[in-house]
Amino acid sequence: MIYEGSVPLRAHAKLNLCLEVLRRRDDGYHDLATVFQAIDLYDALTVTVAPGHGIGVHSEGWPVPEGRDNLCWLAAEVFCEAVPDLEGHISIEVHKILPPGGGLGGGSSDAAAVLLGLNHLTGEPLTEEGLIVEAARLGSDVAFFASGAGAALATGRGEVLTPLPCAACLPAVVTFPGEPVGTAWAYGLLSEADFTDGHRARWLAARLAADEPALADAALGYNAFVAPVTAARPDLREALDELRDLGASTVSLAGSGACVWGVFAEEDEARGAAETLTGRGRWASVTAPAERGVAIGDVASG
Ligand code: C5P
Repeated sequence: MIYEGSVPLRAHAKLNLCLEVLRRRDDGYHDLATVFQAIDLYDALTVTVAPGHGIGVHSEGWPVPEGRDNLCWLAAEVFCEAVPDLEGHISIEVHKILPPGGGLGGGSSDAAAVLLGLNHLTGEPLTEEGLIVEAARLGSDVAFFASGAGAALATGRGEVLTPLPCAACLPAVVTFPGEPVGTAWAYGLLSEADFTDGHRARWLAARLAADEPALADAALGYNAFVAPVTAARPDLREALDELRDLGASTVSLAGSGACVWGVFAEEDEARGAAETLTGRGRWASVTAPAERGVAIGDVASG
């Protein structure tokens, strides 16, 4: 069937409010227990289906590949395999705000946005469950962004999701120290000593599920990558210390890095810290929870 149309999307970033790695698996992945929270920073996408054939990706902002190496392209291919009656040329415009290699899940969120955008434009042939299955083929974090949840406990390699209410424990400041971290590289640094049993993530998830304040919770900010990644990347240790010096009560890595984030008690303090970091030439922003990983519709309308 020939479809035509265009849809704007917001592909939000995420923070892992707690990230435990349980074990290395036989397939090379690791089992996780993590609490994802979508935040209000996002890449802006437009997905268009027009007469013709093929896929095109065009990106502005942070430089990313525009061919098949871009996860958006693969997302369009995966969607076309799942919905074979889609005919048309798929073009994907990405305004890249989220730093690649930052651990904020930008590439995964962009890919989920392509799946949701194409599903929207073609009359929703895939259910939410179907979208999560296709998303998980693209990457471990993609399922969360495709799920429609704003927060979730994720297990398995990150694709087994239990939705949660949004965490009221932000404002946070997120900053990118400059040099990206490769996810596979970071996983390669982990040793047995970094593996834990998942009780912190499950505890934090239970607190959020009960709408209890998690700001002072010891599980908030736990991240298995902090020790091994900062040992290899002292600049990230310095970035964590810098956020603490600026008043953050809890600091952690975003995913496996390279972004670091810190929770502040007051919005004003968070703003002051972000301004200080920006003044030092850093990419830094105050952020609050978002209600979903990907929002479909007019980007300007918020
Ligand atoms: O799933 P994704 O493509 O994002 O993962 C990138 C890399 O990160 C994988 O190839 C693997 O090395 C590592 N990874 C892992 N365990 C996970 C998620 C990612 O080992 N749960």
